[in-house]
Amino acid sequence: MARKHNFFAGPAVMPVPAIKQAQKDLYEFKETGIGLAEISHRSKAFDDVLIETIARAKRLYKIPEDYSILFVQGGASMMMAINALDFVPEGAVAQLIDSGRWSERAIKEVNRSKGTADVVWSGKEYNYSKLPNVDELEFNDNAAFVHITSNNTVAGSQFHKFPQTKAPLFVDASSDFFSRPLDISKFGMLYGGVQKNLGPSGSAMVIVKKELLERIPDGLSEMLDLRIYDKKNSMYNTPSTFVIYMVNLTLKWLEEEIGGLDKMYALNLKKQALLNDLFDKYSDFYKPVISKKEDRSYMNMTFRLHNQELESVIIKKATDAGFIGLKGHRSVGGLRASIYNSCPLESVQKLTAFLENFVHNH
Ligand SMILES: Cc1ncc(COP(=O)(O)O)c(C=O)c1O
Repeated sequence: MARKHNFFAGPAVMPVPAIKQAQKDLYEFKETGIGLAEISHRSKAFDDVLIETIARAKRLYKIPEDYSILFVQGGASMMMAINALDFVPEGAVAQLIDSGRWSERAIKEVNRSKGTADVVWSGKEYNYSKLPNVDELEFNDNAAFVHITSNNTVAGSQFHKFPQTKAPLFVDASSDFFSRPLDISKFGMLYGGVQKNLGPSGSAMVIVKKELLERIPDGLSEMLDLRIYDKKNSMYNTPSTFVIYMVNLTLKWLEEEIGGLDKMYALNLKKQALLNDLFDKYSDFYKPVISKKEDRSYMNMTFRLHNQELESVIIKKATDAGFIGLKGHRSVGGLRASIYNSCPLESVQKLTAFLENFVHNH
């Protein structure tokens, strides 16, 4: 059976060379006589994988020496809980931009901490169809951290500019991780669940400025203390070895086949332009959820049909034609094409042609 065009929001499409390599390695990994998921996380074979993964991440994002790269099980949601516990002590205030469903979760976690959450801007009243101009927001220099969700997976918006803050800037980059070059030195922490742009679900990758770890109070459970992850090289307990292995293969693909983040970014913009152009051409038929083009995500493109009765028809026809995962999140409705890094240009070209054809037939 031919593989279908995968537009799921996460877990999501992965690079074919990475999947094919994993197929082989699951049976026997690097002449060890056993499969990669059967190898001890304390073995040299796995240690090499972890070292290579971190080295690739450092090269791709040009991560400065004073940052640590960690893997934390439980995904981005676990990191939201950990950040609240580790960095928001009694009396402290964390400032957050509420730009969507996942920002709301980060806010909820800070509200459970000993400190308080200060929501500097919220798009809730617009059902998250807009983003603020970050230059117009005011931030507290003494905040425990300022938190922003760089790409709003559900609404389909994305920050193409980050706020300048004196307080450490914490970014949930789950759905646009490694999709564009970034100046990592501007961030206190960049974290994300890896299941969209980097591999299978279940873990978060965390890029954190080492000096921030010194702020973590004593007395936390060791599984919730990022200092322990740093000290033990993400192996205080058994990490998700398979997830880390797949992240390594995806980063390898990004480095060696795509050619790095500048090229990845250009390709992502090219894919986005195909759909944006279609929405412009057929603006009496399709309607992007995020009306301002400069706020739109190049990872999750959300749109509706003016005739909403046709939405279930188009989703069914698309599925039959091999385009999978286009149904929008239940809180937004409509359609969402998640066109992550590994979603081939060809998939987006074919989807665009399908959507154009649909207009002509209806
Ligand atoms: C932007 C963003 N943040 C956080 C999450 C939650 O991630 P996890 O399921 O890894 O906890 C998601 C999941 O889809 C997401 O899109």
